[in-house]
Amino acid sequence: MKMTNRTVLITGGTSGIGLTLANSLVERGNIVIVTGRDQSKLTSVSKAFPRLYVVRSDVTKPDDIRRLYEEILSRFPKLDVLVNNAGIMRNLKLVEPHSLEDITREVDILLTGAIRMVQQFLPHLLQRDEAAIVNVSSGLAFVPMPVSPVYSAAKAALHAYTQSLRAQLSDTSINVIELAPPPVETELFRGEFAEEMKGRSAMAPDKLVKQTLAAIEAGRTEIRPGAANILKIASRIAPDFIFKQMVKLGQPRNRPI
Ligand SMILES: NC(=O)c1ccc[n+]([C@@H]2O[C@H](COP(=O)([O-])OP(=O)(O)OC[C@H]3O[C@@H](n4cnc5c(N)ncnc54)[C@H](OP(=O)(O)O)[C@@H]3O)[C@@H](O)[C@H]2O)c1
Repeated sequence: MKMTNRTVLITGGTSGIGLTLANSLVERGNIVIVTGRDQSKLTSVSKAFPRLYVVRSDVTKPDDIRRLYEEILSRFPKLDVLVNNAGIMRNLKLVEPHSLEDITREVDILLTGAIRMVQQFLPHLLQRDEAAIVNVSSGLAFVPMPVSPVYSAAKAALHAYTQSLRAQLSDTSINVIELAPPPVETELFRGEFAEEMKGRSAMAPDKLVKQTLAAIEAGRTEIRPGAANILKIASRIAPDFIFKQMVKLGQPRNRPI
């Protein structure tokens, strides 16, 4: 699918992968709308990148999704690409106390949020001659990293949901694409994992975006750049070995393994 002259909505596009993708798509002549929760981040993005459109919207709130849909359809009726990218990743120790409301936060954003966005925008996208839904999962969809247990579970579920969505939409004009990034140099990656990831390298966001757009244009539906591809293959041929590596990976480097 050619990624030019499109109208693209990216959830969580105020930093990291989403913002890099947004700017790259604008450079190619696409109209791009990004969302996020934090109004100050949206205002800064709008000032720094005036060709991007910003709308405040939280994917965990059904009313926000409904309002976003109304606004997008009235202002950008040619919307043909939805990118479910919004996300957080927490370093969670399950033996510590967590409220029942808080413990599922990654599921609410990464899985429930993406499913609700698809359901809201599907009737519109089905009317377009050619459209795409891009769900941003993770290499951790294939092998969990125990230090981030709810995140890994949500990404595995998003992978499964995306497979089913692709099968159900196979006879339609909508391409269902999964982008499973490897570690990428963003706030999400370093934020809560500074100690665990000290000295470990991550892919630059612009490299990820370049590979992703090339893969979409080449017709690939499950895009696994770099280490994400290794995780998927290893999960098939050496699942116990690779899981042990993920257990170690989450541990601070100065802690004996
Ligand atoms: N970086 C990596 O190593 C890596 C690897 C694999 C997969 N991924 C995935 O890539 C995606 C982007 O991550 P990133 O690394 O670019 O992270 P990031 O720089 O922290 O960006 C996350 C974006 O999501 C937004 N967001 C968070 N919660 C939201 C909500 N409830 N509703 C709407 N927007 C929300 C944030 O803005 P607000 O906070 O203002 O809402 C921000 O714009 C995520 O799905 C992540 O899981 C990242």
